[in-house]
Amino acid sequence: MPDLSTLPADFIWGVATAAYQIEGAVAADGRAPSIWDTFCQVPGAVDNGDSGAVACDHYHRWPQDISLARGLGVDAYRFSVAWPRVLPAGVGPVNPRGLDFYDRLVDALLAAGIRPFVTLYHWDLPQALQDRGGWPQRATAEAFADYAAVVAARLGDRVADWTTVNEPLCVSWIGHLEGRMAPGERDLARAVRTSHHTLLGHGLATLAVRANAARQASVGVVLNLSPCEPATDRPADVAAAHRMDGHVNRWWLDPLHGRGYPADMLATYQVEPPVRGDDLAVIATPTDFLGINYYFRQVVVDDPDGPPPYARQVPVPGAVQTAMGWENHPAGLERLLVAVHEEYAPARIVVTESGSAWPDHVTADGTVQDRERTDHLERHLAACAAAVDRGVPLAGYFVWSLLDNFEWAYGYDKRFGLVHVDYSTQRRTVKASGLRYADLIRAHRQRTGPARTVPVRR
Ligand code: FCB
Repeated sequence: MPDLSTLPADFIWGVATAAYQIEGAVAADGRAPSIWDTFCQVPGAVDNGDSGAVACDHYHRWPQDISLARGLGVDAYRFSVAWPRVLPAGVGPVNPRGLDFYDRLVDALLAAGIRPFVTLYHWDLPQALQDRGGWPQRATAEAFADYAAVVAARLGDRVADWTTVNEPLCVSWIGHLEGRMAPGERDLARAVRTSHHTLLGHGLATLAVRANAARQASVGVVLNLSPCEPATDRPADVAAAHRMDGHVNRWWLDPLHGRGYPADMLATYQVEPPVRGDDLAVIATPTDFLGINYYFRQVVVDDPDGPPPYARQVPVPGAVQTAMGWENHPAGLERLLVAVHEEYAPARIVVTESGSAWPDHVTADGTVQDRERTDHLERHLAACAAAVDRGVPLAGYFVWSLLDNFEWAYGYDKRFGLVHVDYSTQRRTVKASGLRYADLIRAHRQRTGPARTVPVRR
């Protein structure tokens, strides 16, 4: 077992999911289409022509899924609310049946002794808002705040822990610059506008949640960050690594911590974000924690003919790669946590996602022996423990994911779950990694006493 003895007594052990990746039931109870329903219909956009139309059918099977989470012994469950269930047109009338679903879910989680961590935006923008211009429009950030207020008013008497936008990088750079995710655009100017409006939306939603939740809310944003290193010591590669760091890390961390947009990246993009009035102050609204999703480091070469930031990630020779082609590199997590703490000193940090995909299968005896995922999990938790030892105020760790699910443009082939899902029968099987996670949680509790349920707070 890894040495996790430095993790604090109130460390939050969690699992994470997102609405479009597990719920299915895309037309149930008044839900309207999101940009992902649309994107999945574009020929070639998603591997195998998969879509989230059925996914894990969590919309109907949630009691079983909560039982599975409970069986793992987790303290917390991070899930997202589908904006197009709650406000089918993105703005305007609330769909009570959509809100009721999350209301029941929250009650059941609390009854199971599991803390709900609610994510307000995990990429399923109502298509109606896309039709009005989507995230490149300021109105979308404002609509997001109104939607956040609605959800907080309904769930905020029981939910204490909130995250606003999940990975604005993916929404902006992958969705609007690289075109590999919904809405599938390739336009730098629109991508930069999106980045500003997702950050602004985060700030406005933070204020809206605090103003509308009946109990004191703990709020943070979720960034996917990667330590960046040059592949060689050639000056061009060193500069490229710095640009990549600007693109994936500083472009988000700097404005969130009151530093505005990094000047070198403004020069790289040659596009001004549409900042108005006190936007930068809203974006820098103090939060209770920073959510970090960590999947890989980036080893980078100069790429003058590629898209911004004119730097390209290259494979690391000899590295162990997951089914996503991502390097298994736990040291990067420790380095990242320490670097963010030293440079930006957020009040607390939560690893809101960490996990890995492997080609799992259920064996004849009905088990899933996913040794690689177990190893990945243990080594990433050990990296967290090492970061805590170096002074990082790390409050918790959420495994991506509770269940195998719809992995966006990769469809269902990429399995990240601690629980295997057979999509033809919807049968769930806890994998060996899930059992190991439960053991690690139990061992921690034996060392430190029962879980405390204090919200992550400044
Ligand atoms: C993250 C996403 C999450 C999942 C993992 C593998 O970027 O937040 O939904 O797809 O990657």
